[in-house]
Amino acid sequence: MTIIETISEMQHYADHWRQQGKTIGFVPTMGYLHEGHLSLMRLAKTRADVLVVSIYVNPTQFGANEDLDTYPRDLARDQRLLESVECDVLFLPNDAIMYPPEYRTYVTVEELTENLCGTSRPRHFRGVTTIVTKLFHCVKPHVAVFGQKDAQQALIIKRMTADLNMDVEIIIGEIVREADGVAMSSRNVYLSPAEREDARVLSQSLQKAQEAIAQGERSTATLIEMIRTMIAQKPTTTIDYVSIVETKTLHDVAQIEGEVLIALAVFVGKTRLIDNALIRV
Ligand code: PAJ
Repeated sequence: MTIIETISEMQHYADHWRQQGKTIGFVPTMGYLHEGHLSLMRLAKTRADVLVVSIYVNPTQFGANEDLDTYPRDLARDQRLLESVECDVLFLPNDAIMYPPEYRTYVTVEELTENLCGTSRPRHFRGVTTIVTKLFHCVKPHVAVFGQKDAQQALIIKRMTADLNMDVEIIIGEIVREADGVAMSSRNVYLSPAEREDARVLSQSLQKAQEAIAQGERSTATLIEMIRTMIAQKPTTTIDYVSIVETKTLHDVAQIEGEVLIALAVFVGKTRLIDNALIRV
């Protein structure tokens, strides 16, 4: 695996592969890799000739009181995991080259960034769309893979690439979970044993709601109340939001109909975790 730290070298590699007629698959990450990330990389490899992974903890997507400074990092371990999936290039930019002092440009997607995580993290998605655009210009991928774990992010990236006519195919990989149902996340490492235990309620409450829907429940108010009650029973949890939205607009819906997303964000102790379930009736 080649490690590239500069934009010009990354672009040079990308141009070289493209001249050779090779397709480039790309998985952007913030590192501290887990099986969820690796599943996206394996998916990318089935769709492209070469695999590029970036690790960059992007400061513009963190709010002032968020965990930018403490975000978990372990580059040596990440490198071993990347070798295990036969990653070709690890792109490792830094703040000085991504956001030099004169930097002034941001990419924003409207409306889709307002509900769900956009409410409590107002500038988060502006940071995500900006860095993903920049990374795309460095890596020049034919295919880029994102996870359904961050369902709103995935939808926003798809909207952005379509709206800005970016010549890249966006593929979405399934949520990978721990054996007890907890969605894998780099942030799970923050959890104390008691919090890790309580974290199971996110996927359990989604499961319970899905069972109620299967039994005919269609009122989103009832389902949301059911989920909120279940989560509130765990001592270390504080709910940020529980929402049921249309999958294309992310607008709240009153009834379960067609395709909807049940999405939630919950603080477990000080750690903010998200999870979701896609429902088709
Ligand atoms: P990060 O949280 O490192 O996630 C990188 C990619 O892995 C994202 O597409 C995310 O949805 C996916 N992912 C995370 N946990 C997953 C799981 N349990 N199952 C499947 N996929 C999972 O998301 C980001 O980084 C950043 O916002 C980024 C896109 C890199 C821009 O900075």
